[in-house]
Amino acid sequence: TLTMTFLALLMFSGFVTGCTGNSSDSLPPRLLLVSFDGFRADYLQNYEFPHLQNFIKEGVLVEHVKNVFITKTFPNHYSIVTGLYEESHGIVANSMYDSVTKKYFSDSNDKDPFWWNEAVPIWVTNQLQENRSSAAAMWPGTDVRIHNTTPSYFMNYSPSVTFKERLNNITAWLSTSNPPVTFATLYWEEPDASGHKYGPDDKENMPRVLKEVDDHIGVLVQKLKMSGLWESLNVIITSDHGMSQCSESRLINLDLCIDRSDYSLIDLTPVAAILPKINITEVYDKLKNCSPHMNVYLKEDIPNRFNYQHNDRIQPIVLVADEGWTIVRNKSLSKLGDHGYDNSLPAMHPFLAAHGPAFHRGYKQSTMDIVDIYPMMCHILGLKPQPNNGTLGHTKCLLVDQWCIHLPEAIGIVIGALLVLTTLTCLVILMQNRLSAPRPFSRLQLQDDDDDPLIE
Ligand SMILES: *[C@@H]1O[C@H](CO)[C@@H](O)[C@H](O)[C@H]1NC(C)=O
Ligand SMILES: *[C@@H]1O[C@H](CO)[C@@H](O)[C@H](O)[C@H]1NC(C)=O
Ligand SMILES: *[C@@H]1O[C@H](CO)[C@@H](O)[C@H](O)[C@H]1NC(C)=O
Ligand SMILES: *[C@@H]1O[C@H](CO)[C@@H](O)[C@H](O)[C@H]1NC(C)=O
Ligand SMILES: *[C@@H]1O[C@H](CO)[C@@H](O)[C@H](O)[C@H]1NC(C)=O
Ligand SMILES: *[C@@H]1O[C@H](CO)[C@@H](O)[C@H](O)[C@H]1NC(C)=O
Ligand SMILES: [Zn+2]
Repeated sequence: TLTMTFLALLMFSGFVTGCTGNSSDSLPPRLLLVSFDGFRADYLQNYEFPHLQNFIKEGVLVEHVKNVFITKTFPNHYSIVTGLYEESHGIVANSMYDSVTKKYFSDSNDKDPFWWNEAVPIWVTNQLQENRSSAAAMWPGTDVRIHNTTPSYFMNYSPSVTFKERLNNITAWLSTSNPPVTFATLYWEEPDASGHKYGPDDKENMPRVLKEVDDHIGVLVQKLKMSGLWESLNVIITSDHGMSQCSESRLINLDLCIDRSDYSLIDLTPVAAILPKINITEVYDKLKNCSPHMNVYLKEDIPNRFNYQHNDRIQPIVLVADEGWTIVRNKSLSKLGDHGYDNSLPAMHPFLAAHGPAFHRGYKQSTMDIVDIYPMMCHILGLKPQPNNGTLGHTKCLLVDQWCIHLPEAIGIVIGALLVLTTLTCLVILMQNRLSAPRPFSRLQLQDDDDDPLIE
């Protein structure tokens, strides 16, 4: 009977969604993806964000998004738009070296499609659909000809372009283009830049910076309302990673452990990428006991949970500093905040909020994976996703057109059903007892009655 109840519930919900869904809409669904770089999940609990909270009140919130290792900007932004782990999309760091082609990559030398072509970002897939275009007011990779394609509308990356100008131009593209822009991105450097400069624990500047971020969100919503986009446009606001406090007293100096001539340094902190120039084992031995606050891995021994191994751009030795520790080479501390650490650390996690016709109103969920954003976006846009590491099921409860079972509620329903069944069973047994109990008496009485005449 339990499974029958569930089947009935399932059928009923399918029936309801089938009836309320508006399939006669001729306009394709549209989506604006916004990233505020370095927006740590718990900023939302520890600071006030009136504009963002209003956005969430009418939409959905995922409190912690588990991002991918290494928890850096380019790798995670590419995971958001491809749904792939770093080893599978190929942007494995902000600084990379490819030993086959002898090419270098950095965040200021990122235009060679070679680095990006191991994956297909969603703006390219979107444009392969008839009558659809994509637009970008910045996002790592959007000013690169990935698979020979850029978004139809994009800006070259420049940190000096104001938030207002990025917003105004992306709104114009969303409003007037033909074929219509159905997928758009908007990227902003804060609160990452200030998080590095002051450290996330700073109490003098961070409150002001986070208020400015919230004000930008207010301006964004205002602008979408004035342009008549607010009701029909789906908007996701998220980020790439969080931030941890660093300190002059938490330095790991590689120069104290190994000669610089023994290796090439491809990336430094908090995850160092080491390309040995001498025997790998020798380099590993010099580094493995360098600091109790740093894990030293041969490439083949990198833990599976990092999904960070199967790519030529991952160097033979990888050093991972503990949270809040900084790897240096005879230098003092240059940043009071940093990220890149183990992706299981809560301080490395961003959040996700979303609003629009595809999303529920006032729904909260505690967690999802950053690679789950991609299949969700493809679903909203009606695109067939490329092979990826995300799971649509993890975001079903956020979406109005999906049937989802919330685990606590499901357990509640099962327990409730069991209680009802038990009560019913008890009642039936009681009733049966009541009905059958008098029988012996009546029979006795009957016998008595039968006997009576005999006595009389
Ligand atoms: C369905 O779409 C039509 C035309 O676009 C609109 O008039 C109607 O209000 C919509 N119905 C619902 C339930 O959204
Ligand atoms: C694409 O747009 C043109 C002009 O707006 C229209 O005639 C055509 O039917 C559209 N094609 C599809 C597949 O929607
Ligand atoms: C934004 O749009 C204006 C007006 O079309 C244009 O002059 C400006 O160059 C654009 N900004 C960027 C960064 O592309
Ligand atoms: C590296 O050194 C180890 C011993 O220190 C040795 O067993 C190994 O063969 C060497 N590897 C290479 C490639 O020379
Ligand atoms: C780093 O500092 C140590 C100790 O101060 C010194 O011995 C060493 O020569 C320095 N190394 C480099 C490469 O500057
Ligand atoms: C991630 O997805 C890619 C593409 O489907 C696949 O090749 C890879 O094996 C997946 N990684 C994991 C750890 O499942
Ligand atoms: Zn970042």
